[in-house]
Amino acid sequence: MSGEAVVVGVRLRPFVGYEQGQSACLEIRDDKTVSVLCQGGREAKDFAFDVAMDSTDKTKDNYVSQVKCYELMAKKMIEHIIAGYSTCLFCYGQTGTGKTTTIMGSPKPVSEQGLLLRLINDLFEFAESQREQGSSINLKVQMLEVYNEKIKDLLAPKTDSFTRQKPPEVHVHPKHVSMLRAPRIQKQKASTTVLS
Ligand SMILES: Nc1ncnc2c1ncn2[C@@H]1O[C@H](COP(=O)(O)OP(=O)(O)O)[C@@H](O)[C@H]1O
Ligand SMILES: [Mg+2]
Repeated sequence: MSGEAVVVGVRLRPFVGYEQGQSACLEIRDDKTVSVLCQGGREAKDFAFDVAMDSTDKTKDNYVSQVKCYELMAKKMIEHIIAGYSTCLFCYGQTGTGKTTTIMGSPKPVSEQGLLLRLINDLFEFAESQREQGSSINLKVQMLEVYNEKIKDLLAPKTDSFTRQKPPEVHVHPKHVSMLRAPRIQKQKASTTVLS
C-alpha cells in the first residue's frame, strides 16, 4: 500500500433486516479478493482489489472492524496530507450498502467511529502536538453536501429565508475539474464539535 497513489477497497457488510435468511452472493476470499458466487449456475468469479474487507461477522478471525478499516484504507492519508498532498476519500455504492457506516459511523462508542472521524481526530492530534512544539497551525473545515445537483453548506447555522446566505456555487473549469466555492468557512475547536 505504501507509495500507492490510489487505493481501492471493497467492504462487505452483514445482512440486515429483510436480508436475513438469504444466501450470500459475495464472499471475501482473501484480503485482496472478492468472489461473486451467484452466476446463474456458472462458476464463481474472482475480482481483485487493493484491499478486500469482510465485515460480515464479528466472530470471524478476518473480521474488519471500523478501526481495522481505518488502518487499511485511510490512515496512510495522514502522512500524505501532512506532506502537503491533496487527498480524497471516496465511498461509492448503492443505497444501503454501508457508505455512511464506513465513512461516518457513530461518534460514540469510539470503536464505531468511521473513517472521516478518525482521520480528522488524527489530524487535530497532529496539529496539537505541533503546537506544543511551538508551531502555528491553522485548520479550516468545510462540510458540503451535494445532493440532486444542489450544494448545501452543512455547517451554516439555520436561518430563515430572509437572512439566508447565498448557497455555495459550483464552478466548472473548462479544462479541469469542478471547483466548489462556499461563501463562508466555519472555524471550530475540535473535530467532535464539527462532526457531532
Ligand atoms: N460494517 C457494518 N457492520 C454492521 N452493519 C452495517 C455495516 N455497514 C452497514 N451496516 C448497516 O447496513 C445498513 C445500511 O448502511 P448505511 O451505512 O446506512 O448505507 P448507505 O449509507 O450506503 O446507504 C444500516 O442498517 C447499517 O447499520
Ligand atoms: Mg448513507
